[in-house]
Amino acid sequence: MPTIVRAFAGSLADAEGLLAVERATFDESPYSVAQIRAMLSRGPGGQQAWLALVDGVVAGFVAAFATHGLLGPAWEIDLLAVHPDASGQGLAARLIRAAAAHGARLAGRARAVVAAENERSARAFMRAGFRDDGRPCRLLIHRPGTHDAPSWPGPEVAVRPAASLSEVEGWLAGPPSPGALPREGLSLLVAEEGGRPAGYVELLDVQTLLYRGTWIESLVATTDRARTALVQAALARAAAGGLDEIGAMVPEGDGPLLRALMSLGFESLGEFGWLVARLPLPGVAASLGATVTLGAGNA
Ligand SMILES: CC(C)(COP(=O)(O)OP(=O)(O)OC[C@H]1O[C@@H](n2cnc3c(N)ncnc32)[C@H](O)[C@@H]1OP(=O)(O)O)[C@@H](O)C(=O)NCCC(=O)NCCS
Repeated sequence: MPTIVRAFAGSLADAEGLLAVERATFDESPYSVAQIRAMLSRGPGGQQAWLALVDGVVAGFVAAFATHGLLGPAWEIDLLAVHPDASGQGLAARLIRAAAAHGARLAGRARAVVAAENERSARAFMRAGFRDDGRPCRLLIHRPGTHDAPSWPGPEVAVRPAASLSEVEGWLAGPPSPGALPREGLSLLVAEEGGRPAGYVELLDVQTLLYRGTWIESLVATTDRARTALVQAALARAAAGGLDEIGAMVPEGDGPLLRALMSLGFESLGEFGWLVARLPLPGVAASLGATVTLGAGNA
């Protein structure tokens, strides 16, 4: 029987197969087969998965979803796993390309977070057409409820939701995407210190196969106090929303943000990098079909 890569078909058997591979690799998902199935069955705008089957048995999967941040949509290749018994056959790159074919309809760029020491995963992404963006980061996470709420940095600092994009435009690395706000899943908080603008934080809410959480997508602050207040406001929001996790990819060299997060109880998971690509990938037509099947020639 050939090896095929196809979209998750919504069956319990598919969800079971996916979870079995997750158990054999990450082994971190707190979700049941039924929950995984429900999460992956929310339609084209929701989280999607693709499976690699060897002799009819699920041997690998990739899960991806779109986020809509200030700079526009991104296709997040979130989880990638191939069962150890099926590794080394190029299945990972085929899965990534299948996911990217779908993502090309939803976003002009794709990205993935890969641990610096995970050469195998990085090579699979590069074989699929991604590149390392050359911005090494430290991945920090915080689990709300694991620390007492720290005291607010001072009465002169206030944090509130941004009323409009114009409040943060001057701090952005590029032009904001028209219509970025309001957008479900995107929160923009601004800090004021002594009544003057002092920074912002951009938060993306995500539901992955491992946790429900928030990513600190970008944060700019003119003072340490404002930075601390913005992170605290993000933590308070995550705790109030019952989220499992809040994470941040902190670029190497951003010492002030690293220090602020560590002082507020974030822990470092180590060095990670971004693997990025423009969509569509060369040679991969955009596809929203439910049965994406790529032959070995595409890998
Ligand atoms: C990472 C993972 C998905 C790769 O799956 P895979 O199907 O075995 O990958 P491939 O067969 O496509 O091999 C990927 C590349 O790594 C190379 N490789 C194989 N063994 C390697 C090793 N020990 N060190 C470095 N590279 C290695 C392969 O030669 C291939 O490179 P190439 O395409 O340039 O030839 C799989 O090993 C896995 O599930 N690991 C555990 C979970 C994980 O780390 N997921 C990724 C998180 S981002």
